[in-house]
Amino acid sequence: MKGIKIIKKNANDVRKILISNKQLCTKYKVKNDDNYVYFPLVSDYDEDIINDISDNYPITISEFEYDMAEYRATNFVDYLVDKIPEEKLEEIRKSFDVIGDIVILEIPEELEDDKVLIGQAALKFTKRKSVYCKKSKVQGITRTRQLEYLAGIDNLETVHKEFGLRFMLNPSTVYYSPRLATERSRIVKQVKDNETILDFFAGIGSFTVSIAHKRDVVAYNIDINPEAIKYAEKNIEINRLIGKVIPCLGDVRDVVKDLPDADRIIMNLPGTSREFLPLAVKKLKSGGILNYYEFSSDEDSVIEHVKQASGDYETEILDIRQVRSQSPGVWHYGVDVKIIK
Ligand SMILES: C[S@@+](CC[C@H](N)C(=O)[O-])C[C@H]1O[C@@H](n2cnc3c(N)ncnc32)[C@H](O)[C@@H]1O
Repeated sequence: MKGIKIIKKNANDVRKILISNKQLCTKYKVKNDDNYVYFPLVSDYDEDIINDISDNYPITISEFEYDMAEYRATNFVDYLVDKIPEEKLEEIRKSFDVIGDIVILEIPEELEDDKVLIGQAALKFTKRKSVYCKKSKVQGITRTRQLEYLAGIDNLETVHKEFGLRFMLNPSTVYYSPRLATERSRIVKQVKDNETILDFFAGIGSFTVSIAHKRDVVAYNIDINPEAIKYAEKNIEINRLIGKVIPCLGDVRDVVKDLPDADRIIMNLPGTSREFLPLAVKKLKSGGILNYYEFSSDEDSVIEHVKQASGDYETEILDIRQVRSQSPGVWHYGVDVKIIK
């Protein structure tokens, strides 16, 4: 195909001119030898532009052999063109979660027949090991969701890396959200050395392990789900935090009776944590901090719930924020409140 041969020292200048004028054919690889670079030209190249280049640089325009460039998709749907009708392609949700080696897709019902093809495309694009799709909402007391295997290796146990830590988990048997990484990091920054921390709904240790990794604390990792505590134990071990994070299996209402009062209590069970506020207020030391989460359409009612549960104690709202959208009009709120007894 037609291309330009140019001495190496001028190649970069010419490359810029070709790219900015859309004259470089990106379907083929630019090649070079010891002295020259060979740029492939688009088939309908503009002779005026090429003549301009030749007026300013010593070039040879001729037929050269080029290797095909590797095709690079910009998202996994690009791999489905020609495999799925165009009107269906528009229905595909391009966003997905990645937990360790696992990709989790959301596939609308109307694409049910194409889900395996979609899974294979996501596997190819992400280069992870396995692809699953969501089969239920996050549900039940353990806040887990069913997943359906689509492509790759069918293994739901994985290790997810977050800010240099490793979290082992199975996303169909425990709750874990990579989308809360920023929120966890925000809480870590608030914590001071020597705090005693209770995480009432701690799951696999995402908050407690992150905190104990950075601060000299003792954090009690409480959860009712045996699978979550099994993984919390592993995560404490693999991140070398034995003795700093203490796994506690059971209903927080029973477990906390035997635990010390806390400088900080974390309550990320946003659908029902309100029911546990009186217990948290009771277990908090004077001047202690609640990191409380609730689904709500407005921040005033979240603050009101905390104040109600605190009764006559003085409360100081340190921060309130929308952590993420839960559903249209409803937010996952996070509030940090100091309670002085
Ligand atoms: C939304 S998840 C949050 C997990 C973790 N804090 C995180 O942010 O990744 C809530 C967790 O609370 C646990 N849970 C629900 N009710 C509980 C209770 N009464 N006592 C202890 N844990 C409970 C569930 O098993 C689940 O792991």
